This record gives sequence, structure tokens and C-alpha cells, in this order.
Amino acid sequence: MNLSIVYNMTIFSPDRDAAMQSDLEYVLQVRDLKTYFHLPEGTLKAVDGVDLTVAPRQTVGVIGESGSGKSVTAQSILQIVPTPGSIESGQILLSRRDGSAIDIARMNPRGRAIREIRGAEISMVFQEPMTSLSPVHTIGAQIVEAIRLHVTRDRRKAKDLALDMINRVGISNPAQRFDEYPHQLSGGMRQRAMIAMALCCSPSLLIADEPTTALDVTVQAQILELMKELQDEFGMAIMYITHDLGVIAEIADEVNVMYLGRVVERASTVELFKNPLHPYTQGLLKSIPRLGGRGRGRLDAIRGNVPVPMNPPPQCGFAGRCDDFIAGKCDAAVPSLVELDQDHFVRCYLHSEDSEPVYA
Ligand SMILES: Nc1ncnc2c1ncn2[C@@H]1O[C@H](COP(=O)(O)OP(=O)(O)O)[C@@H](O)[C@H]1O
Ligand SMILES: [Mg+2]
Repeated sequence: MNLSIVYNMTIFSPDRDAAMQSDLEYVLQVRDLKTYFHLPEGTLKAVDGVDLTVAPRQTVGVIGESGSGKSVTAQSILQIVPTPGSIESGQILLSRRDGSAIDIARMNPRGRAIREIRGAEISMVFQEPMTSLSPVHTIGAQIVEAIRLHVTRDRRKAKDLALDMINRVGISNPAQRFDEYPHQLSGGMRQRAMIAMALCCSPSLLIADEPTTALDVTVQAQILELMKELQDEFGMAIMYITHDLGVIAEIADEVNVMYLGRVVERASTVELFKNPLHPYTQGLLKSIPRLGGRGRGRLDAIRGNVPVPMNPPPQCGFAGRCDDFIAGKCDAAVPSLVELDQDHFVRCYLHSEDSEPVYA
């Protein structure tokens, strides 16, 4: 029996249902998720073994440079990975309101079950509001439509709820805005409209994928503040994706640092900023320009770029850019994500000898 079979049996197979019911202290639990794009040139491993957990009401940050696999992780959670991508393996466990758990990774992307989850239990906001807002329908009609799909068929009640939501996200003059089209709103207001639409069915999890990246800093700060307020009010959890450490520091309780399709470090936000362990995280932190920091912040603190994970060799993804690279080790296997201190995990041979099992 080869090692991979033993590993699968001991870690993942023993009574899947029992495991799913045992620890429901999460809204979402992603386990060893792999999402690949099968291209003519080979297999692009956009997400290559991601683990992360979001507890109720918690804000979990996901940070990493462009190309780390953050968006594809989010797309996998909603089963909206574009073709030719697909979820290869792993679990995406969602706790339902009735206390049961389901594995989204096994759902049909076009099936009814996932459509009932999208927008109702898990909502998403994007960098570009026009990915979720239709240009040919008014703001009000779109929010009413979402409410009628998931909350109430009653038109009057749906309209009242929609107006209330438009008001709550801080859009002035809700009655007038209700009948306006997205293009009539400013960028910041469009972002608020998208948030209103995402929250109108009180999801238990909001996934925010760089929602403030295109906004100027003042509007960005307002939107972050708004999301925190609404989170308290609605009691939802947030998975916040960004490449901006300043934003993460502002909003997240816990941070997952992603690199080349894997989580390479995880800790509470305070701990991560105080005591970064992975050379990649250290590089990211060094690259923050600091006011009055005597020019110590270097924007090129990490040399090179994120490679494209096309047919990647079984090694540490950061090996080619790491100043602490150990030949014969970092390029020989994939280090495991190991808990070094309580709730502080790192995937690096400088800190642990453990490797991921080799699959046949
Ligand atoms: N639709 C797609 N087709 C092919 N490759 C893709 C597609 N979307 C993303 N990728 C690739 O997957 C990897 C991860 O991308 P992505 O999740 O968008 O990164 P991030 O959101 O962290 O910037 C990248 O190498 C990217 O080029
Ligand atoms: Mg992205």
C-alpha cells in the first residue's frame, strides 16, 4: 500500500459524517482544497492544498500577491470556478443554519443546492461592482429580486426590505436611488449598492475579494468601516481577501498568508505583525512603506514575481525567491503547515522538518 492511500484513509476517510458533525464551531472549513486549470500546456495548480477555517462572526483575512490563488479559492467556495478549472479534491464544509454541515466541494456547480446557498448563506463582493450588478436593471429591482429569491415572495415586503438595506449601507436618498441604474452612481456608491445586495439575505458568511482596491483611500476607509458595522449588526463572518496589509491590519482577526496556491502562514493579526515567521511574510511586511520610517520600507523587498504554477515541481513554492533557501531541502519536497506556537502555523523548513506526503 503506498503512502498516499494510508494518508487518505487515516486523515480523511474515517467516517466522514461523524467528522462533519463533531466540530461545528465554524461557518466554513476548507480542507486540503485543490483547484486546477487543465490547459493545453499542462496543469495550472491555482489552489494546491488550502486549509482554512472561518468561525462564526470572525473576520478571516487572506493575503498574498497577485497570482497567489486567493480569488480561485473564493470561486471554489461558491462553485463558480471558470472553465477549464475544476475542484480536484478536498472539502469545503459549510455549517447550515439548522446545525447540519454540507460539503460544497461535492456539489454540482449548476445544481439547485448551490444556488440556494449563493447569495443566501454565502455572499460575495468583488473589486468590480459590475461583476455582480446588472447594468440594465435599477439598483432597487436587483436587490428586490435577490430578496424575492431567498427571503420573501411578497413584493411590498421585498421593496421595504430593499429600501431599508439601501439606507443602511449609507446611500443617501434611498427612494430616489432605488430607481437609478448602477452607472448613475459613483464608484463608492456602487460598492455600497453591491454590499446592500450581498447582505440583503443576511448571509452567515460574506466573502470580500479586494472590494476596496479600486477606491481612493478615503472611500476605502468608509467602506471598511461600513462592513465592520454591518458585521456587528448582522452577526456574519467575513472572509476578507486583499493584497494590502494595511487593510488586513484594519479589519481581520486572523490572517492567512497565501503563496502559490497554499497557505504558508496563519496567525492572529496581532501575532502575525509582531512575529512573522515565514520569509515570504517577512518580505511582505518589509515592503510596507512607513510614514517616518526613515525610508526603510522597500517596495521590492521580495525579489522576482509570483511564478505561474504550471506543472509545479513538488517543492516549496517560495524556493525560487527565498533568501534563506536551503538546497536539497526546500527544492526536494513541500513543507507541511505546522503549528509552532498556539494558533500560529507556518509552512517552512526553517521552522519544521515535516513534509507533505507524496502522492503517486
Ligand atoms: N480562468 C482562469 N484560467 C486560467 N488560469 C487562471 C484563471 N484564473 C486564475 N488563473 C491562474 O490561477 C492562479 C491564481 O489566480 P488568482 O486566484 O486569480 O490569484 P489572486 O486572486 O491571488 O491574484 C494564477 O496563476 C492565475 O493565472
Ligand atoms: Mg484575485
